[in-house]
Order: sequence, then structure tokens, then C-alpha cells
Amino acid sequence: MAISSLLAAITRRLEGKVALVTGGASGIGACTAKIFVQHGAKVIMADVQDDLGQSVSESLGPSNCTYVHCDVTNEDHIKNAVDKTVSTYGKLDIMFNNAGISDPPKPRIVDNEKADFERVLGINVTGVFLGMKHAARVMVPARSGSILSTASLASNLGGASSHAYCCSKHAVVGLTRNLAVELGQFGIRVNCLSPYALATPLAKKFVGLNDEDLENAMNALGNLKGVTLRADDVANAALYLASDEAKYVSGHNLFIDGGFGIVNSAFKIFQYPDA
Ligand SMILES: NC(=O)c1ccc[n+]([C@@H]2O[C@H](COP(=O)([O-])OP(=O)(O)OC[C@H]3O[C@@H](n4cnc5c(N)ncnc54)[C@H](O)[C@@H]3O)[C@@H](O)[C@H]2O)c1
Repeated sequence: MAISSLLAAITRRLEGKVALVTGGASGIGACTAKIFVQHGAKVIMADVQDDLGQSVSESLGPSNCTYVHCDVTNEDHIKNAVDKTVSTYGKLDIMFNNAGISDPPKPRIVDNEKADFERVLGINVTGVFLGMKHAARVMVPARSGSILSTASLASNLGGASSHAYCCSKHAVVGLTRNLAVELGQFGIRVNCLSPYALATPLAKKFVGLNDEDLENAMNALGNLKGVTLRADDVANAALYLASDEAKYVSGHNLFIDGGFGIVNSAFKIFQYPDA
């Protein structure tokens, strides 16, 4: 192999691949679309924020990225986004079900509204189900593909989010595991990502803080010190799971939480006296 193609293989880990990213206009989705394009993928970016989505997509280069309006709760929209991916770029290798919302944090369940609960589950669970279903529709005949979804630290932890959000992210893990079992026979991998909190519009709205204050608060609470979780850390984890480097990884929930989820803060046996 020539040095130039060897370097390209190392530096462009998604060369020749085609990805569909939901919630691609903002936050983790926008950053992942950018990193996927940098690594040689063609990307269809699906969102409901059309002006923002169009401009983010254009910034990645018209030949690399195409924006499509898609409300993930609407099956026709999801079907159209998958079909548009195949008609524009010829196939679908990577489906990233990333669109998500949270509801207002209310400490008491009796104050939680059914409509808020259903809205969160509609986008975070039904939206992921529909994305998985229509990705499978085109990946099964191709006998290849990688399906990713954004879960959360709340997929395995109580008390870190609203009831609806916590429940919805547990459900993403359930869907991921069940589909990994179903699609293994076709060589299709299914995984999800579980980040700790990072400064995006979703998280800022949930905690009511600006970028800096949110990062400071999360760094103070976090287990891994001296680093701040950013969208590109999540995007790089998505890049790994989407790429052939993860060719035997399926049914996995990858935590990007600096170990936060395994800490029991009641125990302090590793606390250095001078730290
Ligand atoms: N930011 C965090 O702290 C954090 C932590 C863990 C998990 N997550 C998850 O990461 C994912 C991305 O969120 P983010 O933090 O980047 O927030 P974000 O608000 O920046 O991005 C979410 C995107 O989803 C889009 N979206 C919302 N409803 C939609 C719908 N019905 N159809 C299509 N698109 C829709 C929004 O328009 C937005 O562009 C979500 O699933 C979220 O739950 C976020």
C-alpha cells in the first residue's frame, strides 16, 4: 500500500461510508456530522431546525453533507430521510439516532405532566425505534451497517435527570440490545453512547446555566479531573463505533462519563489527604 493511501486509511476512518445523523443541526449531532465528514463520510443531516441545519450542512461542503427536514416522531419523515440518503449517496452504512430532548426538571412525580412524559418518550424512544426500523430496512438487504443511538449517563443511573428522560434513555439501551441480537445474523452492529453532561442547548436549558457555569458545575461533580467533556469527545466515540475499528463491537453501551457512573460517593477510601 502506498504511503499516501496508508495515511488516508489512518486519518480518514470513514472513507467511502454514508451516514444519516438525526438531531444533526446542533450540539453532539452537528459535531459528529463534522467529524464524520472530516473522516471521509458523506452525511445526511436530519433535524427540525431547518435554518440552522441548512447552514451547518452548507458549512461542511455541499458535496459532503445534505440537510433534510425530519421530525423523528413521524415515520414518513424517517422513511424519507433514509430513502433520501440512499438516493443521494447510494447506500446507508451508519445510522446515528441522536435527536433528543428533555422535559423541565420537576422534583416531584406528582407535578410531572403526562403530556411532557409522552413528548420526551416520543422523541427519545419512538424516534430511535423508527430510526432503527428504517435503517434496518435498507441495511438488512445490504448485510452490513452500524446503528448508533445517543443514550445518556441516565441510561444506567437514577436521580440524574427527569423521570421521563431517565426512562427514555434506559429504553434506548433496551432497543440497542434487542436489535443487536436481531441484526447480528446480518453482520449489522448496534450500539449506543452514554455521555455525562456537556454544554449543549439541551443541557443548558435543563440546568438553566450558561456554557461556562455548566462546565464548571459538571467538572466539580465529575470523577475525572482536569478535563472537560465536550461534543467532540462524544463525536469521537461515535466515530469509533461507526468505523471498522469496532467491527466486533455490538450491543454495547459506551459510557463517556470519566467513570462518574461507577462512583459511589458515600465511599471515600481513595481520597488523598493532600488532594
Ligand atoms: N448535552 C448533554 O449533556 C447530553 C448528555 C447525555 C446525552 N445527551 C443526548 O445527546 C443527544 C443530542 O443532544 P444535545 O445535547 O446535542 O442537544 P441539542 O439540543 O444541541 O441537540 C439536539 C438536536 O435534536 C433536535 N431535535 C429535537 N427534537 C427533534 C425531533 N422531533 N426530530 C428531529 N430532531 C429533533 C434538535 O433540533 C437539536 O438540533 C440527545 O439524545 C440527548 O439526550 C446529551
